[in-house]
This record gives sequence, C-alpha cells and structure tokens, in this order.
Amino acid sequence: MRSAPLTLLLSAFLCAIGCSDGGDGGGETGGGGGVDATSGTGGAPGVTTGTTGATTGTGGAPGVTTGTTGVTTGTGGAPGVTTGTGGTDGTGGGTGGSDGNTGGGGSTGGPAERTPAASASTLREAGEKANPPLLIGAAISASGLNDGNYSRVAAAEHNYVTAENEMKWDALEPNPGQFSWGSADRIVSWAQQNNMKVKGHTLVWHSQLPGWMNNLRGAQQVEQAMRRHIENVMGHFKGKVEHWDVVNEAVLTDSDTGVGNPRMRPTVFYNELGEQYLDLAFKIAREQDPSVKLYYNDYSIDARNDKADFVYEMIKGMVERGVPIDGVGFQMHIGPPNNEAGGEDVAYNLKRFADLGLEVLISEMDINRCGNQVTAEEQLTYYHDIVEACFLMPKCVAVTFWGINDGRSWLNSWSTAMCNGGNSQSLLFNDQYQKKETYNRVMDALLGR
Ligand code: G3I
Repeated sequence: MRSAPLTLLLSAFLCAIGCSDGGDGGGETGGGGGVDATSGTGGAPGVTTGTTGATTGTGGAPGVTTGTTGVTTGTGGAPGVTTGTGGTDGTGGGTGGSDGNTGGGGSTGGPAERTPAASASTLREAGEKANPPLLIGAAISASGLNDGNYSRVAAAEHNYVTAENEMKWDALEPNPGQFSWGSADRIVSWAQQNNMKVKGHTLVWHSQLPGWMNNLRGAQQVEQAMRRHIENVMGHFKGKVEHWDVVNEAVLTDSDTGVGNPRMRPTVFYNELGEQYLDLAFKIAREQDPSVKLYYNDYSIDARNDKADFVYEMIKGMVERGVPIDGVGFQMHIGPPNNEAGGEDVAYNLKRFADLGLEVLISEMDINRCGNQVTAEEQLTYYHDIVEACFLMPKCVAVTFWGINDGRSWLNSWSTAMCNGGNSQSLLFNDQYQKKETYNRVMDALLGR
C-alpha cells in the first residue's frame, strides 16, 4: 500500500480532479457571502456565481474559516451567529449574515494554494508563517506535562493541543451529572500559557464511555444524557476550547483497516437513537456556542477504502440536511492496526470532503513501525507526502501528531498494534526528545520542499 513520492504526482492529481477550481474559488458553488457583519451579500443563485481564482474568488475570507455549507438554499447567518451559509451545488446562492460575524461564506471560497514560509526553526513556526497558516498539533497527556522535556518540546513545536484522554466522557463525567475537570483544566491552562489553541476530544464516542452511560436504555434517557454531557462540557470550556470533535468513530468495518462491510457502529447512541444521533449531537453542540468549529473524526478513512466511501456519504448527507458540521478529522493512524495511505490517497480524500464545503484536518497522525509492515523508508515517505497533501490544500487547517515521543505512544501497548510493549517508533521525537528523520521530512513538507 505504499505510495509513490509525491509533489509532481499530487499536482497532477489535483489538476486531474479539478485544476480549474482555482482557489477552490469555486465557480461550481453557490454565491459567497460577505466577510463581515455588515457587508455580507449573497451570490445570485446558480452555477455562475462563484468566481474562480485565488485573487478574485468571492467566497468568504481566504482560507478555511468561512461559513459552513448550505445545501440548496444558502441563507444568511442568524443575528449574532458567526457562520452564514453558502450554497454547495450552485443551486442556492448564499446570502450574507444579517449581523453575524462572518456573513455567508461561499463554501469553497479561499486561495488555491498555501504558500510556505521561507524558513522556520520549529514546526510551529513553519505552520504560523505559512499563508494561510496551518495549525501544528499534538496529543498531550496531563502526565506528560510533568516531564520538563516533554512540555518544552510540545510547546516549542506545536500551537494546537488535543487532550489524549483527559476530555473523554469517562474522564469528565465518571458518574451521571458529576463532572471532574482537573486534568483537562490543567492541559487547557498549559495551552493558554503557551498560546496554543485547543481541540476538545471528544463529546460523543463509544469508547472510554463510563459503564453507567453504556447501560442506559431508551431514546429519551440516552438523548437526555448526551445533551447534559455536551451542555456541561462545552459550557465549562466555553471561550477556551475553539474546536470540538463532536462525534468520533461512528462507523465500523470488518477490518480496522477500513475494509469490509462498512456500517454504523452499534453503540448505545446508535442503538437507542438511530443514525440521527449524529445530527442531534451537532445541533446540540451548535446551540452551546455558535462560534466554535464542530468536527466529525474517524480512523482508517485516509486510504481509498470502504470506510472512507461510507463516511463520505454519511457526511454528505449531513451537509445536505443542513446539520451544523464544520469539518472532518482524518486521524491518520498509519500502519497496524489501521490503514496505510499514501499521499495521493490522502489528497483524494481530503479534496472530496473539502469539496462538500468543509474544513479537513489531519487529527491524530502517527506511523507505526511495529511488525515491520511499514519499513523505515516507507515511514519517511508517508510522513512527507501525507503532510504535504494537507499543506497543499488551504482547506486543510491542521496537522496533529498523536503524541510527542515514541516511548509514550499508545501503540506500544495496544494489543492489535503488533508492538507487544516494544517501541512503535511512530512519532517525530525519540525518548531523549531529539528530532528524528521523521521530523525532518515533516519540516520539508511544511516548507514546500
Ligand atoms: O487510566 C487508566 C489507569 O488508571 C489504569 O491503571 C491503566 C491500566 O491499563 O489504564 C489507564 O487507562 C488507559 C488510558 O489510555 C489512559 O492511559 C486505558 O487502559 C487505555 O485503553 C487508554 O488508551 C487510549 C485509547 O485512546 C483508548 O481508546 C490511548 O491512550 C489514546 O491514545 C487513544 O486515543 C485514541 C483517540 O482518542 C481516538 N482515535 C484513536 C486513538 C488511538 O486509539
């Protein structure tokens, strides 16, 4: 499953599937709205509204922070709401928000390319100096922060934080209605001290769910508990956590590699509420805070496989129903037990989801060498080409690595990861916090090399 080296192939590929989307400025999309509260204006309905090219696109503000996507009838953001909506398919012109912060955004507005920094001494700097900027994230554990080297490298190299376990349901609400914020608060305040953004991970997920929640039965009980959890958690972190993984890993296949019989995962949420639990979770989340970004997040949707296709259709349906989703996180756990995906596969998937009018993110990247299923050389190629695929796409807003140093990786002790307590060699730093060659390859991709 290894891919060819990328730069040329990727450019050719992007052209093949739509060079003319110049800036994803998007002639194929509905009209873009204004970029501020007062100037939001709708594009006229129809396929001709979006203009092409990075410089002339009439979509929302450059980059990926514009409004979420409308379906057939773009409508303005409600007063005070930050996201207007634009049309996706040319049938609906978006209208600017009446007094929302961003007005209606053309779903595909923004520049065609991301320009790399001329130089950078950290990944974080490379991301911040890129135009548009790219967030460089890491999964952070509260216990890791006790180690001065861990904390120093984490803050120097990243500007985006996902709590590895501390914001999961069992950590935050171990008993019904009783919340425990200690470790999560610690990570958030550390992030604030270091000028890092935080992604909340994760509101609705079948794993690390306390027993009492798993045992609830009946739609009413499950909906009430889900609502209480989302309200309390988002309320507690309001103003501090700007992005949320609202639903995580809702889809299952026979193999963890994303192959075979894709279907909705049977969880307490799905079993009691049906597939509409996703719509409901996003709507409840949006009610709590109109300004945060709301994401769906999953693994093994990085390659071209059954699961990626199924999740694509699921998300497309949500967009068409007007569910308030802002983006999709591609976890990018490469190697056992998950999928292998080359840069071309990743570019293909990022683009088709972005073309729904969504942001895309690489949300949990690591590349497992256990079992030697991924060779050292393949690992370097994957790191470069996958990060490059995101970097080349302005709608790809973040690359997060799932940990800092190899010795702390979840893979080392994960039963199906083939490590058996050994070292997965999966990340960018060794256990003396020295940069590995994987780091250099990521830096190359961020600097356009
Ligand atoms: O906290 C307990 C501790 O009290 C106990 O003594 C110890 C004994 O095993 O377990 C500790 O809990 C572990 C927890 O990590 C905290 O270290 C769990 O056993 C272990 O299963 C858990 O693993 C986490 C895993 O999610 C659970 O699903 C990994 O650290 C974490 O990296 C991983 O992260 C997930 C993302 O959230 C979603 N995407 C996949 C990704 C990798 O699996």
